[in-house]
Amino acid sequence: MRVPITAGNWKMYKTVGEASAFAEALLNDSASLAEVELIVCPPFTSLPALSKIFEGTPVVLGAQNMHWETEGAYTGEISARMLKEVGCGYVILGHSERRHIFRETSEEVGKKVETAFGNDLIPILCVGETIEEREQGNTESVVHEQLAKGIEGVDSNNAVKLVIAYEPVWAIGTGKAATPNDASDVIAFIRNLYADRFGKPVSESVRILYGGSVKTNNVYEFVKDESIDGTLVGGASLDPASFLQIAGETRRVYS
Ligand code: PGA
Repeated sequence: MRVPITAGNWKMYKTVGEASAFAEALLNDSASLAEVELIVCPPFTSLPALSKIFEGTPVVLGAQNMHWETEGAYTGEISARMLKEVGCGYVILGHSERRHIFRETSEEVGKKVETAFGNDLIPILCVGETIEEREQGNTESVVHEQLAKGIEGVDSNNAVKLVIAYEPVWAIGTGKAATPNDASDVIAFIRNLYADRFGKPVSESVRILYGGSVKTNNVYEFVKDESIDGTLVGGASLDPASFLQIAGETRRVYS
């Protein structure tokens, strides 16, 4: 069985103090969510403090980005080794805000995925089309390109560990989520691509999430679809009660 995930992407929100208060509040309740893997991805500055607070708990820490080189003259960048050292288990790579605002290419994302695995971090690889691409009927070709280049350097040992997040760009931060059917169709397409590359057993074990305007009141519709293994949540992950409720709705499907 694929263990479902509720992952929170905090983006550029919360100081260390605010992040620590969130973490303490989360731990008051999260013990009852054992069947769901909880991943919290704060800004870099909060990683050391949260790593201490989450130590020995089931909550796993993730980063939101990293560089593809392990060290070097890359002003302003953070390496996989640095993330590992401060307790990260996961790293979000290829988020649409990285691709569109910071012009990251699929080739760069692919290099990052390889480096993350090389440093014992599990990438959460994000893929998704813009509204123009969807309206022109290019959703599959865009997702194909992002996925194929993203996993180019992944070997079959690591393939099963990767987490993929299908996040249509038009659904992120807009309050306009995809329909569960649309999400499920693209996720089936991703799973087929994965099967072509790594074989059916691997494709049936890899976890694929939906992301984009997931809230407490719509998450159940997504996670009850058995092809959707959880959610990557932005805005609604910033409040501990809402984040826990989303994880609780996810758990409801599996219990
Ligand atoms: P949102 O963001 O839940 O605020 O739409 C999702 C994401 O960017 O991962």
